Amino acid sequence: MRKVVLVTGANSGIGLALCERLLSHDTEGLHLCLACRNVQRAQAARSDLLASHPAAQVDLLQMDTSSVSSVLSAAQDVKVRYDRLDYLYLNAGIMLNPEFDVKAFFKGLFSSNVITMFATGEGILTQKDGVTTDGLQQVFATNLFGHFLLVRELEPVLCHEGRTSQLVWTSSSNAHRSAFNPEDIQHRTGTQPYSSSKYATDLLSLAFNQHYNKQGLYSSVICPGFVMTNLTYGILPSFPAILWTLLMPVFWLIRVFTNTFTLTPYNGSEALIWLFRQKPESLDPYAKYHSLTSGLGNNYTQPHKMNITLESSESLYKKLLQLESDMKKKLAEKEKEAQPADPSVKT
Ligand SMILES: NC(=O)c1ccc[n+]([C@@H]2O[C@H](COP(=O)([O-])OP(=O)(O)OC[C@H]3O[C@@H](n4cnc5c(N)ncnc54)[C@H](OP(=O)(O)O)[C@@H]3O)[C@@H](O)[C@H]2O)c1
Repeated sequence: MRKVVLVTGANSGIGLALCERLLSHDTEGLHLCLACRNVQRAQAARSDLLASHPAAQVDLLQMDTSSVSSVLSAAQDVKVRYDRLDYLYLNAGIMLNPEFDVKAFFKGLFSSNVITMFATGEGILTQKDGVTTDGLQQVFATNLFGHFLLVRELEPVLCHEGRTSQLVWTSSSNAHRSAFNPEDIQHRTGTQPYSSSKYATDLLSLAFNQHYNKQGLYSSVICPGFVMTNLTYGILPSFPAILWTLLMPVFWLIRVFTNTFTLTPYNGSEALIWLFRQKPESLDPYAKYHSLTSGLGNNYTQPHKMNITLESSESLYKKLLQLESDMKKKLAEKEKEAQPADPSVKT
């Protein structure tokens, strides 16, 4: 029986590279499901994958992780289609309206923090968040809450006696505790929603391990390193493509000093593929698995302890459960209101 693997944000960047590598690893043994918000882009990705792996089984699933109703209906679809889900890669992510702080960059360039700044982007990026039609902060909804709901809804296909399954989150080394406020988990008030959502991802992964390991479900987080994708190009949208190309030799040079400059989606997906090959029981729930590329271009994966505690992870988990219940109630009320009035009922 083929193992079923679902990847969110599978139509570009790291997600697409992961799909390509999974199929190269095992074309016949996998059933891949690309979960994407845009059907046309998803179809194009599927065609590309099938062009290089004609025998592969690749399905599409329309899902917008920022929308509660879209996630719920996609999850329903998955439960109808598959009776097992072996790997769930929670990879879709956005960084909205990033602003590059040139002053902080030059300050950092001449400080002892320069390598950390390049490796994690700490202190040089701020963003302006949006609000979804559900009334949630957009980055929180897309990167974290939609995925949380998805996992919760897919519990029946993820948890099976006598079999393990894996959640793998694409987090970031930009996940900083200082950006996350436990009293404002959506990051309504700050200027670092991306960093906050990724720190919350790290906390949530630990909580899922606490609550689901007994049922055979394991969760891990990775950092892909600094990768040139649509997300990174969006940091400097006015920067012409040619300048990025011209900068590549500089980036390769930086890679000699920091192995976090993985640069290509293929390299960035290294830890995702590495986790695919591991026994989930052997993984450390407090570790983030980093994709790294050496100065000579060799890829490898290395675990780093995360700056998280069980207490804060449990506190976030409770808040997410509460939000899940509130959002479902709100959705049910909306659906009720949208139903035409029963003419037989006299008012
Ligand atoms: N690139 C880096 O250096 C870097 C570093 C650390 C972490 N990451 C993380 O890596 C992951 C993949 O990003 P990437 O760098 O590969 O960028 P990317 O090429 O922009 O990929 C992001 C993927 O997420 C999808 N997505 C965005 N919003 C969505 C939504 N509401 N519903 C469903 N799908 C949605 C995008 O779909 P569309 O094509 O429709 O937009 C795309 O497929 C993200 O979680 C990102 O935070 C990246």
